[in-house]
Amino acid sequence: MNILLTGGAGYIGSHTCISLHAAGHHAVILDNFCNSSRAVLSAMGRIIGQTLAVVEGDVRDVDLVTQTLRLHKIDAVVHFAAHKSVSESLQKPLDYYNNNVVGLISLLSAMDAVGCRQLVFSSSATVYCAREPSPVRESSARNHRNPYAHTKLIGEDILAALPVADTEWKLAILRYFNPVGAHESGLIGEQPYGTPSNLVPYVSQVAIGKLPYVKIFGDDYPTVDGTGVRDFVHVMDLAEGHTAAISKIANNGPTQPFTVNLGTGKGHSVREVIQTYSEACGIQVPFHVEDRRAGDVAECYADVSLAADLLDWRARRSLMDLCSDSWRWQRLNPQGFAQ
Ligand code: NAD
Ligand code: WQD
Repeated sequence: MNILLTGGAGYIGSHTCISLHAAGHHAVILDNFCNSSRAVLSAMGRIIGQTLAVVEGDVRDVDLVTQTLRLHKIDAVVHFAAHKSVSESLQKPLDYYNNNVVGLISLLSAMDAVGCRQLVFSSSATVYCAREPSPVRESSARNHRNPYAHTKLIGEDILAALPVADTEWKLAILRYFNPVGAHESGLIGEQPYGTPSNLVPYVSQVAIGKLPYVKIFGDDYPTVDGTGVRDFVHVMDLAEGHTAAISKIANNGPTQPFTVNLGTGKGHSVREVIQTYSEACGIQVPFHVEDRRAGDVAECYADVSLAADLLDWRARRSLMDLCSDSWRWQRLNPQGFAQ
């Protein structure tokens, strides 16, 4: 299939592009590089052994997206392009609603105009209500705690409305848990600009010596060792989940939007991550316990039975795999790609 990846130069999009290529698909990337580097394109080209088709532009540019869909005879779209920082969304809510919600509506309008009606949407475990016990099922209650999470809820609801009007729409909503790690080659990986706010990129910058120590946000949670527990899923497992979702919608899967958790189904604590990363990189990563971070829950991990049943997909890589791959990427690219 010809598949358009909006935001395909970003962290999850670039890894998904590799997985789609390995499955025999032809990917076209549309990105405005607001949170990625053009340098990732040549690294991706090295992995797949060919030059990528890339359109530089904004997903809110309906004319550009329409032209791209027509020119490349696109069969399906995976929509990654969005802003993704919870804390930034509290400071810049309008930017978040504009990019994430207007972006989705613009894309869907262009797709509708050319009759391309197969879409995979990047949602997030952040849509689940904080009180929901783990493992979290797809039917668990949703609510929003910040503008970023709200944009994902709105996105899911917009998609739910489409097949009611037109049964040609085939839609997959994928709720990612905590994507981490990097491609096994060490050529591409996560590239946070500024100080990372997520745990694994922070640990990796401490390991390389850019930051002095990891701040553990609270060790008095009712968890195995008092620190927060999350479902850390390797980005290549996640990428393969998209390839499975594309196959499902293309092979006449459920016509209603189907919503699937992509996680490992296992929780790992912050301390466990630091310890495993230390083993992967061969030095003890220093840390210091601080106060809890506002808005954090004690634990969150996925019920992954639907992903196994519906998509025949399960995460295969271990916590050690994702720490080792993250470290290889960090070690080979200590400065990352310039934006
Ligand atoms: P990322 O920032 O690395 O990638 C997003 C890409 O989209 C970037 O290359 C950026 O330049 C591009 N982009 C943003 N707005 C655009 C626009 N208007 N037009 C064109 N390109 C645009 O983020 P990521 O981690 O790869 O996340 C991908 C998707 O997955 C996002 O929708 C995010 O909300 C969702 N998600 C991410 C996580 C996570 O922890 N990384 C977790 C759950 C869900
Ligand atoms: C994990 C654990 C922290 C940093 C976020 C978004 C979510 C989704 C994924 C997009 C928690 C602890 C963290 C640090 C720490 N993104 N921690 N020290 O909060 O589960 O999810 O990313 O959709 O929307 O909220 O991930 O990596 O920030 O935190 O102790 O420096 O690590 O308290 O327990 P989170 P995280």
